[in-house]
Amino acid sequence: MAANTLGGTFTMADGLTVARMGYGAMQLAGPGVWGPPSDRDEAVAVLRTAVEAGVNHIDTADFYGPHVTNEIIREALAPYDGVHVVTKVGAVRDEQGGWPHARSPRQLREQVESNLRTLGVAALDVVNLRVGGGPDGHSPVPGSLAEPFGALAEMRQEGLIKHLGVSVVDADQVAEAQAIAPIVTVQNWYNVAHRGDEALIASLGQQGVSYAPFWPLGGFKPVQSEVLDAVAESVGASPKVVAIAWLLHQAANILVIPGTSSVAHLRENLSAAEMTLPAQALAELDGIAA
Ligand SMILES: NC(=O)c1ccc[n+]([C@@H]2O[C@H](COP(=O)([O-])OP(=O)(O)OC[C@H]3O[C@@H](n4cnc5c(N)ncnc54)[C@H](OP(=O)(O)O)[C@@H]3O)[C@@H](O)[C@H]2O)c1
Repeated sequence: MAANTLGGTFTMADGLTVARMGYGAMQLAGPGVWGPPSDRDEAVAVLRTAVEAGVNHIDTADFYGPHVTNEIIREALAPYDGVHVVTKVGAVRDEQGGWPHARSPRQLREQVESNLRTLGVAALDVVNLRVGGGPDGHSPVPGSLAEPFGALAEMRQEGLIKHLGVSVVDADQVAEAQAIAPIVTVQNWYNVAHRGDEALIASLGQQGVSYAPFWPLGGFKPVQSEVLDAVAESVGASPKVVAIAWLLHQAANILVIPGTSSVAHLRENLSAAEMTLPAQALAELDGIAA
């Protein structure tokens, strides 16, 4: 399967054209995104199968594991050969497995250096500053990102980072970041049952900036919907595949990064890029979040 069948391609920046069907690596760490996976060989196989199928956009973070996911990516994919790894900074793991913010310039530099080490690269393709928080931990909260994003912009000037993005942000924070340095991507919580970013997605699209929805399948709480199940049955696919296909139908600047620890699930998810959803199915799916 070539990249042009994986939902087409999107050019994030010069030298950074990716298949719209990507892969999110968070599921490659152990339970609770902590420690090693139960089957490391399968984790390596997931990554290699994705890349063999034409995926060239892998999403990760050094705080997955911590370090575990990046180390598996390095083992499976270095020297990368056209595969672009998007990582994120702004949090660390504590001894309870929590994810406290870590956004001082010193902490961000440590995280960038750790990503460089664990991925085994001289410069990171794309680094997202993860902001956010709130009661659910994954929604934007108002506040300036001038200091942390400014610190990453400096590291970009130094050549440690090629491109920047932001994650778990609102539109004002996107604009604030863009006034400091160009961004190539925004990564927020968005799926068929969790909406709200439509205006942001459209505005980014007009600017040629990509949008990578995290939790495309609902993440830790899989999307449950009778409508989704019924549409899936009507088109002869699984609800997971329909949820991914729905995202690919929303806007050309959406890049999908579904996560899985299983080669079988990966293959199933990749098939979403081949699916054309009829207008009636799209209308029914749009009703889920209404
Ligand atoms: N910026 C942020 O704050 C943030 C937050 C969360 C995630 N992310 C990124 O977004 C990516 C995607 O999110 P995610 O992995 O948390 O959630 P997700 O893609 O919404 O869902 C992953 C879950 O769905 C299951 N799954 C996947 N394909 C399946 C299939 N075909 N059939 C049945 N079950 C299936 C996986 O289990 P199996 O392993 O058993 O397949 C896993 O439990 C992550 O990998 C990460 O890179 C970013």
